[in-house]
Amino acid sequence: MSDSSIQKWLLAEHQHRNQTTLELRSVFDQHRQRVMHLLKRVAREKAGRLCVLGAGNCNDLQLDELLIAFELIVLVDIDQAAVKSAVAHSIPETQRDRIHVADSTDVSGVFEYLQAIDKNDLHTIQTSHLLHLLSRQQHIPMAPFDCIASTCLLSELIDSVFLAMGGNHPALASVILALRRQHLRTMVQSLCAGGFGLVIFDFISSQTLPELMCIDESILNSVLVNAINEKNFFTGLNPFAVQAELQTHPDFLGLVTDVRLHSPWRWDLGHKQFAVSTISFRRSLT
Ligand SMILES: C[S@@+](CC[C@H](N)C(=O)[O-])C[C@H]1O[C@@H](n2cnc3c(N)ncnc32)[C@H](O)[C@@H]1O
Repeated sequence: MSDSSIQKWLLAEHQHRNQTTLELRSVFDQHRQRVMHLLKRVAREKAGRLCVLGAGNCNDLQLDELLIAFELIVLVDIDQAAVKSAVAHSIPETQRDRIHVADSTDVSGVFEYLQAIDKNDLHTIQTSHLLHLLSRQQHIPMAPFDCIASTCLLSELIDSVFLAMGGNHPALASVILALRRQHLRTMVQSLCAGGFGLVIFDFISSQTLPELMCIDESILNSVLVNAINEKNFFTGLNPFAVQAELQTHPDFLGLVTDVRLHSPWRWDLGHKQFAVSTISFRRSLT
C-alpha cells in the first residue's frame, strides 16, 4: 500500500461503503419513501434552499421530485464522486442548474485528524485537541438554508471515530457526544431563521436486534423502545437523548423550537436492517 493510500484509509473506507450500496437503490425504496415524505412536508411550508448532508449515492432521495419541491438543492458529502455520479444518473444535464454538488466536504472537521491517528499507538491521540476541533463551528457550503437534512450520516461520523480510536479508548464516549453535539450545532447554525432541520439517523441494527428483520410494523415502536431501555442502540444515538439535547442543552436554548421525534421505520439493506429515527426542529425566528 502506498503512503498516500495509508493516509487516506478513512476516506477509502467511506468510498468503499458507497460502492457497496451503489446498486441497492431498489432495496432502498421504502426508506427513500419515508425520507422523501418528510422532505416534501417541509417543502410545503418552506420551498426554498435545501441542503442534504451525507448525500452519498442519493439512494434515499428522489432528486427529480426534490427539484420540483425546492428552489435549490445543495448536496454535501466527503465522497463527492458518489454524489456527482448519482446526480448524473438521475437528472439530465440541462436540468442541473438548480442542483449543486459541493466539493468534497468533511462536515465534522475531525476527519483528517482521525485519518492521521496511528492505530498502533493510540496513546498519541490528543483528546483535548480532538474535543477542541469538535467545539469549532463547521461551515457548510452555500449556507444558510431553509431546510437541512442529515441523512444517515450521524452513525457514519460516529463510526469513523470508532474505526480511528478503537472501541476501548477511554475518551471514546466523550468524543462521540461532542461529535453529536457539533453535528446538531452545525445544522442549526446553517439554517435561516425559521428554517427546518431533519436529523435522520439509523440507531439500531438487526445484528444486535435480530427480530427487527421480521416483526410486524404495528409493534415496531414498542420493540424499539424496549431495545433502547435495554441500552441496545448505537453509541450516542439514543433518539430520546438526541431529542433532549436539542431541547435542553444551552447551545440550543433560544435557537431551536418545535423539536419533534417522528415514528421510526426500518431501512432494509437485504441481509440486514436498521431502525431509523427522525428528529425535526426549526431554527427560531429571532
Ligand atoms: C450511510 S451513507 C448515507 C446514505 C446516502 N444518503 C445514500 O442514499 O446513499 C453516509 C454518507 O456519509 C458520508 N460521510 C461519511 N463521513 C463524512 C464526513 N465526515 N463528512 C461528510 N460526509 C461524510 C459518506 O461518504 C456517505 O455517503
